[in-house]
Amino acid sequence: MKAARINERIWALHADVDSNDLFEGIWPIPEGVSLNSYLVKGDKIALIDLARDWCGAARELKTQINELGIELGQIDYLILNHLEPDHTGWLRDFKEQNPEVTIIATQKGVELVKSFYKIEDRLMAVKSGDSLDLGGISLRFEETPNVHWPETMMSFEPESGTLFSCDAFGSFGKLGNRVFDDEYYAEEHAFFQEESLRYYANIVASFSHFVKKAVEKLAPLGIKIVAPSHGIIWRERPKVIIERYLKYAGYMDGPQEKEVCVVWGSMYGNTKLGLEALLKGLEDERVPFTLHKVPDEDASFVLADAYKSAGIVIAMPTYEYKMFPPMAYILDIFERKHIFGRKTVRIGSYGWSGGAKKEYEAKTAALKWNQLEPIEWAGAPDDETCMALREKGRELGKAIKAG
Ligand code: FEO
Repeated sequence: MKAARINERIWALHADVDSNDLFEGIWPIPEGVSLNSYLVKGDKIALIDLARDWCGAARELKTQINELGIELGQIDYLILNHLEPDHTGWLRDFKEQNPEVTIIATQKGVELVKSFYKIEDRLMAVKSGDSLDLGGISLRFEETPNVHWPETMMSFEPESGTLFSCDAFGSFGKLGNRVFDDEYYAEEHAFFQEESLRYYANIVASFSHFVKKAVEKLAPLGIKIVAPSHGIIWRERPKVIIERYLKYAGYMDGPQEKEVCVVWGSMYGNTKLGLEALLKGLEDERVPFTLHKVPDEDASFVLADAYKSAGIVIAMPTYEYKMFPPMAYILDIFERKHIFGRKTVRIGSYGWSGGAKKEYEAKTAALKWNQLEPIEWAGAPDDETCMALREKGRELGKAIKAG
């Protein structure tokens, strides 16, 4: 990959990570992820955000800097918008190669530089409204706490209107040699849209109120280019990604999309049979749904559809008097990621005794779901149960449509 020119003074650098490693140690990235950094060149040189030494990313970053005719030692300022190690993991090594660099972050960010990397010297804390004159170009800083860590800030270059937004407005998915929005076809944008939703639901969703606040705060700046630290750089249609993020943030309190995320597991097919009857009821009402089988499918993908959907179906058998264990994990993730206030129903088969009810109700209490009466049945569902399940699907579908 090569550095991509944003203008005569700003360059986008990135490394694609294409690995079976999990992002944050939790989330699969089957289509990879990009780690983006930016080089801003005035009389002085600033590098915005670093990388983790992950799948050769640090080497790639160094190579791209060198190809611009710049040695690491010539970088005057390293601006760390966010201290999560995917953007800072290479910091100690970088600092050894450039001991004179001044590291800029928020006050909380500076504390994290000290605690994560044991670096104590040449640290500069900045706050909202502060700016850095590089000679011929300047950067302004805006604190955006909890998007998604407390120390987060964004950097802004006023002349070109470039917002260096770090994790915000980012996405999973590797970039290859194209980094700008106008270099992608519609179907590729559809892929990045899906991956931006999954990224948002996995990483940012719990902080949606802070996302809304940050967008409000940044609006007066006159953003013309959105340059995040993961995914596409938006120079032609920056509003697309800003509005998309606002929409995602809005899913937190609603309204969500009028669709249903169906999460199901079945040990021997009896819960699956009952679920098929319920889905006919959703089809009767023409309410779209997505299907997610657990534990086969990773929670990352379940979460993306659950986050955007107004309705959720939980279909699982009783397992040793309690919930089907993979579903307990999904519900735990739902609570952590604030999948609150959805219209839901639980269905499932049991062998000799239903038993999931008590555990399920305890597990979902914090979610404040609007729950329809559950349906449980012994063994295989008979015709009468299937009719009741189909009717339950209709009932849920009607509730979703009614908003
Ligand atoms: Fe991409 Fe929160 O780090």
